[in-house]
Amino acid sequence: MTEATTAPATPFKDLVFSGVQPTGNLHLGNYLGAITKFVALQQSHDCIYCVVDLHAITVPQDPVQLRNSIREVTAAFIACGIDPTKHIVFNQSQVSEHAELAWVFNCTARLGWLNRMTQFKEKAGKDRENASVGLYAYPALMAADILVYRATHVPVGDDQKQHLELARDIAQKFNNDFAASIAGHGFGDAFFPLPEPLIQGPATRVMSLRDGTKKMSKSDPSDYSRINLNDDADAIAQKVRKAKTDPEALPSEEAGLASRPEADNLVGIFAALSDTDKASVLRQFGGAQFSTFKSALVDLSVEKLGPIGADMKRLMADPAHIDAILVDGSDRARVLAAQTMRSVKDILGFVSRG
Ligand code: TRP
Repeated sequence: MTEATTAPATPFKDLVFSGVQPTGNLHLGNYLGAITKFVALQQSHDCIYCVVDLHAITVPQDPVQLRNSIREVTAAFIACGIDPTKHIVFNQSQVSEHAELAWVFNCTARLGWLNRMTQFKEKAGKDRENASVGLYAYPALMAADILVYRATHVPVGDDQKQHLELARDIAQKFNNDFAASIAGHGFGDAFFPLPEPLIQGPATRVMSLRDGTKKMSKSDPSDYSRINLNDDADAIAQKVRKAKTDPEALPSEEAGLASRPEADNLVGIFAALSDTDKASVLRQFGGAQFSTFKSALVDLSVEKLGPIGADMKRLMADPAHIDAILVDGSDRARVLAAQTMRSVKDILGFVSRG
């Protein structure tokens, strides 16, 4: 690769890490925005994909639903094509090193840094006094998730970019604060890599099927606003047919989508599901009525997403099998995480068995 000749040599092996919270239904937005990326990265990288249950409890969770959601995210990963034997799929709470390193990072991160996090401000809302300490400290846990494997690349959505920058700041400060100890322990001049975001382009931002100006969201009260990954073929077809549109025919060029958020969204979904771009979708459907375009989108959506829903259903019928996958992934993750934690404790000056 040409980049390698200009970038400084890094001692860190390329490793992909990402996490998905087990809160509520996964939908088309999660699929096109994140999971397809996770799937593709398996070809080029070693990957660790984590169901971040410790993150989920920063806001109240019902234990029965939480357990179900952990299994459902795992089932979605597998149904979408993540291979848990070649890569690592596990749930965060089974590898206690995440929480342990998060504590260290709570002592590295500064209050001022966390005070700037826009997601905390949004989620805590007006009643900040009543937000959990965990919700506030969440970015330090996210940094620990990544850095406990010394992972180098993190596929995330736009909304997580600030948290990833914080992870870099934490890694950098740890490397600086303990530079002498790090060198003394033979780790060269940096113990942690500065993890790079792999941010997907705006083309994969999926909007609500009821309102093209709002992001597709698991918390939208209308189930018709989203296609859930566990929807069956009938549900998918019905939701696409009912999706909001406008009365015009489709434009022949992308510029014609500018003030037509619903049309833009559906064309974007078609492009993403067929692995092309909006321009080429419009070359095919420019001038067509929505009725024509929608039936093509129904067929495409059912073809691509129907099998995922069916596979998830099959997997969810055997929770013991899913749990075994998570136990196996956790066992493999723990070996890596424990190694990092041993070094971190040495670097910090903790006394241990050695
Ligand atoms: N905070 C992420 C989200 O809400 C989930 C997450 C937790 C994550 N730890 C991570 C993502 C580490 C990437 C890397 O979507």
